[in-house]
Amino acid sequence: MSEPTPTRIFLTGFSGTGKSTVAGLAAKELGWEALDTDTLIADRAGKSPAEIITSDGEERFRELERDAIKEAAARENVVVATGGGAVISKENRRAMAGGALVVCLEASPKTILDRLGESAAAGRPLLAASDPLGRITALKAQRQSLYALADTIVDTESQAAGEAATAVAEIARAGDAWCACHAERGLLPEERDRPPPDGPITITTASREYDAIVGWGVLDRLGGLMREAGLSGKAFVISDSDVLPRYGDRALISLREAGFEAAAFAIPAGEANKTLDVAATVYDWLVSQRAERGSALVALGGGVVGDLAGFVAATYLRGVPLVQAPTTVLAMVDASIGGKTAVDHKEGKNLIGAFYQPRLVIEDVSTLKTLPPRALVEGCAEVIKHALILDPVLLADLEERADDLLHLEPAFTVDIVRRNVAIKAGVVSEDERETGSRATLNYGHTVGHAIEAASGYSKVHHGEAISVGMMAAAEIGKRIGVTPPELVERQRTLIERFGLPVRGPKLSVDSVLEAITLDKKVKDGVVTWVLLEGAGQAVLRSDVPQDIVRDVVKELLS
Ligand SMILES: NC(=O)c1ccc[n+]([C@@H]2O[C@H](COP(=O)([O-])OP(=O)(O)OC[C@H]3O[C@@H](n4cnc5c(N)ncnc54)[C@H](O)[C@@H]3O)[C@@H](O)[C@H]2O)c1
Ligand SMILES: [Zn+2]
Repeated sequence: MSEPTPTRIFLTGFSGTGKSTVAGLAAKELGWEALDTDTLIADRAGKSPAEIITSDGEERFRELERDAIKEAAARENVVVATGGGAVISKENRRAMAGGALVVCLEASPKTILDRLGESAAAGRPLLAASDPLGRITALKAQRQSLYALADTIVDTESQAAGEAATAVAEIARAGDAWCACHAERGLLPEERDRPPPDGPITITTASREYDAIVGWGVLDRLGGLMREAGLSGKAFVISDSDVLPRYGDRALISLREAGFEAAAFAIPAGEANKTLDVAATVYDWLVSQRAERGSALVALGGGVVGDLAGFVAATYLRGVPLVQAPTTVLAMVDASIGGKTAVDHKEGKNLIGAFYQPRLVIEDVSTLKTLPPRALVEGCAEVIKHALILDPVLLADLEERADDLLHLEPAFTVDIVRRNVAIKAGVVSEDERETGSRATLNYGHTVGHAIEAASGYSKVHHGEAISVGMMAAAEIGKRIGVTPPELVERQRTLIERFGLPVRGPKLSVDSVLEAITLDKKVKDGVVTWVLLEGAGQAVLRSDVPQDIVRDVVKELLS
């Protein structure tokens, strides 16, 4: 079955992200026509947008812009470049999302300033400000949650206009990122008729009680929310080389607006950097910045940043306040909640760590728009796991709307992330130190971790390994009469629907079996298996015969 493909593209994004140029080039590649709403407006009004704003006011310009977008939205086989402020209007976003592919072009404030400065169009009001970079950064941050409503985001920072145009044309041809399925596409969760509940989720542990706030665009409220949580003074954002360029400015602006003295530091991205050596570079930086006992650390990034910055927060000056601001699915629904922090040792993952609860967790779901697809899908494995062990309603929702989650439909995705945070919060609140019920979160992880270990952690990602691990647990459960066969098939269908593996990779069975017994969670050689008794119902079993484990592992990994 081939996916339907769009016949109209709207390009959104800040001024200076290259929308007109990319529209022209992408249209050429597709054999379509390029349109520019500013040109449509100028033709209609007989003067340029800048002149309209000066002589007739901004309101009049926005009115003409709405007409131009409506006109463009009625055309076929067009690539339309829009003005930087077009997304502010809900009406515009609805018109654009109705049947078109919406692509946001993204570049950093610094690059935008350089490009606007170079362009002949002098008299741009943005450049007239006394601090143009600050002005661009702040305005862009304000609009970011709206830009992130686009179907997909194409980077024009690191690639030339021609490459970006090819990327846009390819996305349109493939139809992947696109789904015309929703009447409410283009709207923020809070603009819907029935907004999802957006109150905080409270995590209660013996050592601390704290809130997790989940929403679309909440990163721009970081500073204010930290103040409400009782933090003030200095704030240090710890991020990585992939995330800081994308979201660092928004975090820093929000912190500074709320009165924090703020600075940021990036570790190199990737699991290979979750080490004591890299943590030491963060300590050095904190010392050079004169971080104090009351200074807050904000972990902005995936689980690697969350674990490492969390460990630094736990140990620097014997503990400074920590805020988790996760930007991957995995970190949102799992790593940022529960207070486990760690770095890896060359002999094993997470060998050096501490339990250390954050003061606050801020989850801006819109940041998932820039996550590489493989990481997005991988994180969904933990969501599927939560549904299988604890929440039959979540399971049914995932079965029904998997595509909406994979396309990051805002209201649905916020709702799903929120419910998963609540699940993890519930389990860790009951069992902070992992003695009882928290163990069920290990579903799929016994074989999953062994696959990761046996394959040297590089080839197979965590979420992929636990997907296979969940299939192993389901199959084992079936063979010892615990898991109903229909549930095994239901699980398989759902995992496949998300594009996650249900078998493989090819590994030596012995190396995987050995890795199972070496797992940290194995006590006195007895493996405790998490198995499913029903949808949303997990049990712990320590009596699984070794030959069944061997048979199942052999079947799945050969
Ligand atoms: N503490 C816990 O309870 C816990 C639980 C599960 C996993 N973990 C840990 O989490 C780590 C894995 O986390 P992960 O899967 O988030 O990996 P990650 O932190 O390495 O992130 C994956 C990649 O995506 C990039 N990235 C992150 N957010 C992005 C965004 N919004 N846009 C673009 N790029 C983005 C990162 O820079 C990185 O390159 C492992 O180290 C694991 O041990 C911890
Ligand atoms: Zn996991």
